[in-house]
Amino acid sequence: MAITKNNYYEGTVVDYTHEGLGVIKIDGYPVFIQDALLNESIRFKAIKVNSKFGYGKLIDIINKSENRIEPPCPYYFQCGGCQIQSMSYEEQLEFKRIVVKNNMRRLPIDLLIHPTVGDNDGNYYRNKSQIPVQMRDGKLEMGFYRERSHDLINIDHCLIQKDIHNELMLRTKELIEAENISIYDEKKHQGLLRHVIIRSSHDDAQVQITFVTNGKENVFRNITNTLAAEYPNIKSIVQNINDRKTNVIMGRENKVRHGEPYIVDTLLGKQFKIRTNSFYQVNHRQTEKLYQLAIDAAELKGDEVIVDTYCGIGTIGLSVADKVKQLIGIEIVESAVLDARENAKLNNVENATFYQGASEDVMKELVVDGIKPDVVFVDPPRKGCHTDFLECLIEVSPEKIIYVSCNPSTLARDMKYLMANGYTAKEVRPLDMFPQTNHVESVVLLIKVHK
Ligand SMILES: C[S@@+](CC[C@H](N)C(=O)[O-])C[C@H]1O[C@@H](n2cnc3c(N)ncnc32)[C@H](O)[C@@H]1O
Repeated sequence: MAITKNNYYEGTVVDYTHEGLGVIKIDGYPVFIQDALLNESIRFKAIKVNSKFGYGKLIDIINKSENRIEPPCPYYFQCGGCQIQSMSYEEQLEFKRIVVKNNMRRLPIDLLIHPTVGDNDGNYYRNKSQIPVQMRDGKLEMGFYRERSHDLINIDHCLIQKDIHNELMLRTKELIEAENISIYDEKKHQGLLRHVIIRSSHDDAQVQITFVTNGKENVFRNITNTLAAEYPNIKSIVQNINDRKTNVIMGRENKVRHGEPYIVDTLLGKQFKIRTNSFYQVNHRQTEKLYQLAIDAAELKGDEVIVDTYCGIGTIGLSVADKVKQLIGIEIVESAVLDARENAKLNNVENATFYQGASEDVMKELVVDGIKPDVVFVDPPRKGCHTDFLECLIEVSPEKIIYVSCNPSTLARDMKYLMANGYTAKEVRPLDMFPQTNHVESVVLLIKVHK
């Protein structure tokens, strides 16, 4: 091994890991260092070493990158919410392009990796905040967890959540304290309130607050009345029951405590109802750009049968329903399918059918029913697509597959499979849905090869 723990070394950063750590090679041995930027020469302390790679802690910068900035958020070095605030926004975009490029190396052909489509300045974009609560030394704390832990950092302003969320986070905290609401203790699995979730439409015209509780007790009457009186744009307050001993934030059962069970937002001129358990992209500005990239890639003519899988509340498919003959949506979460069906009605879409179930199961049924889609939009969670689903996809063999991905590693894995089975691609378009974090979204068009 080239280095030993607790010793100090110098080197130049030659690459980034997918987590945004700088990579330094000491005699070929890679060491990963948080907040070390590409091309910087630094001094670091080896803090963890194993046979294949190690981790270092940045000690001094010998030669500073022109892309380094002072992290704008005072909580950055404690809070696990953001990972790359030491990079200028331009460097963040380039880092994301590098991550996509590195993942695409495992494909049989070279693809063009476009520059990452950026947000304006990358701040105050999150339209959903999931805020854990905790009592420490008799004081209520709300904030976000330290990286890879449940160690809560008490926060009164978050740089990446929308202003209205910062305001409501503080006001809700005051009210929870004033009402002396019982707070959940994760170790003892006792106490009531676990999380406060805030979600808002792009123009703040509709806001939803969800109290996630360990049990059904309704202690939120006064808070609900106060919030509803102070903020007429709070259209929905829901109590979500999660009484399991789990890290999963939400339970399945909801009690509406004020207004509707959903809020409504607009995307690309269409309206969408969003229930608290349903997935909805977190950055409105970037979602419209993402969907436009996916829609442009499809080059729809008007007579196509399209499938929108992993469709959430139906946003991608419904955005193009008036440009196609038939739309089939597939989604596993019950509330999201309910939203998707209501969203079809809300937008006067009559050529759409939404199925509830796993893509891998529903696709099999579609194959049996002889459905032959021309275009399939695929937008899975981070773990990517199930192999059974990819097999069905190959069986129905659409002319075009538009893969929208939030994880370039599983994207590359699934593309490799599709490319070994009759599909090809030319380019990848990375997009920054989550500025200040190490996550990157991508859009790829895969086309059927005709021999
Ligand atoms: C990344 S989100 C995309 C949702 C939607 N396309 C959008 O842009 O809002 C992935 C969606 O896949 C759903 N999902 C997860 N596993 C699934 C599966 N096996 N089959 C179908 N849907 C699934 C999730 O509930 C979530 O709504």
